[in-house]
Amino acid sequence: MDTTTAQHSLWLTDAARHYPLVSNTAVDVAVVGAGFAGVTTALLLKRAGLRVALVEADRVGSGTSGNNTAKVTALQATVYSELTRAHGADAAADYAAASLAGVAQVAQWAADADCDLRRMPAYTYAATREEIAAVDQEAAAALDAGLPVARDRGEQLGVPFEVYDAVRLDDQLTLHPVKYLHALAAQVDGDGSYVFEGSRVTGIDSGTPCVVHTASGEVVAERVVVATHFPLLDRGAYFARLETVRAYCVAARLRSGAPPTGLGISAGEPSWSLAVHGDLLVVCGGSHPTGSPEDEPYRALEDYAHKRWDVAEFTHRWSAQDVVAFDRMPMVGSYTPGSDRVFVATGFRKWGLSGGTFAGLALAAELTGDPLPWAARFTPHRMSPRSVPTLLRKNAEVVVDLVGDRLRPGNVASVDEVPRGHGRLVRHGLGKVAAFRDDDGELHVVSARCTHLGCLVRFNDAERSWDCPCHGSRFGVDGEVLEGPATDPLPRRELGD
Ligand SMILES: Cc1cc2nc3c(=O)[nH]c(=O)nc-3n(C[C@H](O)[C@H](O)[C@H](O)COP(=O)(O)OP(=O)(O)OC[C@H]3O[C@@H](n4cnc5c(N)ncnc54)[C@H](O)[C@@H]3O)c2cc1C
Ligand code: FES
Repeated sequence: MDTTTAQHSLWLTDAARHYPLVSNTAVDVAVVGAGFAGVTTALLLKRAGLRVALVEADRVGSGTSGNNTAKVTALQATVYSELTRAHGADAAADYAAASLAGVAQVAQWAADADCDLRRMPAYTYAATREEIAAVDQEAAAALDAGLPVARDRGEQLGVPFEVYDAVRLDDQLTLHPVKYLHALAAQVDGDGSYVFEGSRVTGIDSGTPCVVHTASGEVVAERVVVATHFPLLDRGAYFARLETVRAYCVAARLRSGAPPTGLGISAGEPSWSLAVHGDLLVVCGGSHPTGSPEDEPYRALEDYAHKRWDVAEFTHRWSAQDVVAFDRMPMVGSYTPGSDRVFVATGFRKWGLSGGTFAGLALAAELTGDPLPWAARFTPHRMSPRSVPTLLRKNAEVVVDLVGDRLRPGNVASVDEVPRGHGRLVRHGLGKVAAFRDDDGELHVVSARCTHLGCLVRFNDAERSWDCPCHGSRFGVDGEVLEGPATDPLPRRELGD
């Protein structure tokens, strides 16, 4: 079943399909996952002379990379003040250098791709007087980190409401992310390298060589890069160190007035992210942890837009989730400590168009023996004492979801109480089932226990999906995997089971 995301994203394309993996294939490097991180890594490695197989469960760009605000910028809300506070000025400077490198790489490749590239200033702005202090701190931290930012009152943002203060970084980018990725993937395919779509990886053996398994064939490779957004493999304790956060976007056609002329994000909470595509206004926001659905999240975005612009109609709605590490830094490098076979890129906390690109730059450099100076900062195996409380809190929440939820009653006592168009957990025997009643009244009943590590899924009304609060796996109403780390569907349940 299609989710709302798949039906309404502004970034859908009818790009030519790549074939699924149907026979065993041997290459130098297998890259799993074709978002910004995977596609960038694959193309850089191919250009360095290696044979690459890019293996994608669905379509190139169909993950979070195809469902976002499409801003490629090194100025990212209040990231530099946060990183400086949490990890020090050197960490913020490394993040700035990496992000600038990511933006420069996208600019270079996008210039030759048919992907609606536009250059614009990026802003972090104060939408209220209370947010001015946050803008102040961000401007100082970004300058310290080496970004050539400037201050103004949002003159080049071009919005029809008062901006109290703002920090600006010129010459940032917006583009059509899926067209961009398809243009890159087309360059990966051929000459001994491959792009396989519709090929979900179910396991990876990290021997010599490595073997990447799918239902229809294997890729044998010297090395593997796992760029599946949430890491696919149950090694390296990623599940204890990452969480997923969903957010929502709408695109609107205006009756009068104009969409923004810059890329903006407000400095406080709730945070409103503003962009433009063609003549459409794009607004994103409404973040919450996956599996704790909001009431009518699109309504909040639409109300926000209606109050500020003369909206004629909302043309698109989409949503997605992103991965956030315990210390809010991306994780890029060897999958397990010391491994020189399997690598990972994750944790871009809603800035992965530049972040996934710099991850590709870092991994390609590491795999070709010439590591980049800032890359060690993002090793997945770092540990900072200041982050321990966050880690403990996160894992305590997972334990509550694993154990506590099972003891609670279902949302309703019987499937008869599940309304049309909604899903509910229903106690059944000793456990619970996840029951969805479609618009025609037909019931779809699956196991309520996530096939990853067993947390109870919850219904997501906005997407009509079953989402897992523990590590963000998502399933369709008939149990099919929409997003990992789970690789197996939720088994169907007959009510007589
Ligand atoms: C609402 C929203 C707005 C955002 N706006 C911005 C923005 O303006 N600018 C910005 O920089 N960032 C933004 N982001 C974040 C950005 O989109 C992500 O950080 C980035 O796209 C992540 O890229 P990725 O390659 O890691 O993951 P993905 O794009 O999700 O790619 C991973 C791929 O792996 C595939 N996959 C998963 N499991 C398997 C498997 N088992 N086998 C094979 N393939 C598999 C998936 O199908 C997917 O295609 C936003 C995020 C959200 C949620
Ligand atoms: S995603 Fe890990 S238990 Fe569900």
